[in-house]
Amino acid sequence: MATILAIESSCDDTAAAVVDAPGFVRSSVVSSQLVHARYGGVVPEIASRAHQRMIVPVVQAALDNADAKLEDLDAVAVTYGPGLAGSLLVGLTFAKGLAVARSLPIIGVNHLEGHLLSVYADGVTPRLPALTLIVSGGHTELVKTESGLVHTVLGRTRDDAAGEAIDKFSKLMGLGFPGGPVVDKLAAAGNRDFYRFPRAELDGLDFSFSGIKTSALYYLKKIPVDERQAFFDDHVQDLSASFLEAIVDMLSTQLIKALDLGSYASVCLVGGVSANVRLRDRIANICGTRGLDFYIPKPEYRTDNAAMVGIAAAQRLLLKQTDSLELTIDPSARLA
Ligand code: KG4
Ligand code: ZN
Repeated sequence: MATILAIESSCDDTAAAVVDAPGFVRSSVVSSQLVHARYGGVVPEIASRAHQRMIVPVVQAALDNADAKLEDLDAVAVTYGPGLAGSLLVGLTFAKGLAVARSLPIIGVNHLEGHLLSVYADGVTPRLPALTLIVSGGHTELVKTESGLVHTVLGRTRDDAAGEAIDKFSKLMGLGFPGGPVVDKLAAAGNRDFYRFPRAELDGLDFSFSGIKTSALYYLKKIPVDERQAFFDDHVQDLSASFLEAIVDMLSTQLIKALDLGSYASVCLVGGVSANVRLRDRIANICGTRGLDFYIPKPEYRTDNAAMVGIAAAQRLLLKQTDSLELTIDPSARLA
């Protein structure tokens, strides 16, 4: 059985994992950079420096937790894109150094394929064809997977990602960064019909979240400054529920359209926003009425992690798809 050390450093999480092919996760360590919270978003220069500081201890912890040594490894896997250039470079350069030092094959993994395969951890194999909704802070994509590593992107966001829109709403409301978890929690006790934020209606299967972001800004700005704090205090739950409802409506409308246009055995919901309770309930419901299997990753594999990179790499290794040491980063890499 091949053992892979996987590294992920595409944004603001430094992560490493030890994965046995075809996808058994022996360890998964994530160091999240909390420093960005005070800026209300990820600062690229700070992120790459933090990766440099953390990459060695995180890799060491992943090896220790798996009770593995460098000599036990059969391959090293690393995210090559999409992501922040300076952040990707830290992981890729480290992985190359290790590959040279230990004469190991290197496998470059697309971050989005990692998210796609995050549901496959520990032997889970969704029935195919599968329709996957990737929803994170940086991406919103609908992907059809027909077999193994063959994916077709059916739709993607034309502007902001769903998680990004939620994070911006959170910032406007003074709820901190990242906003998803707190907005999710507040929404649970709020009135979804308190305010109807606009839903972008696009032909085809693409998404757009910039309109709802602007509309939230104008809506909140209309409230006189001296009344704003009291209004937020009284209605933060209602506004969170109303905002999330619009996001969930837009995501599920396109998902239903894609289901109507194709033939699927299962639906997968992956990426950081897959933790959202309302979104999960809605999609579980859609799958229930259509007799489709529904998969979401285990909690630890929803947000960025290296286990998903190791799982994708394991699939590639089985097909003998390794890369040369000329592998480079591709900050704007696409899935297909
Ligand atoms: O997958 P991820 O870690 O990063 C990217 O690859 O972008 O996703 C992070 C995103 C953030 O926007 C965060 O606010 C959102 O996932 N998020 C949530 C929840 N938990 C995290 N959004 C809605 N509800 C949640 N419970
Ligand atoms: Zn991600």
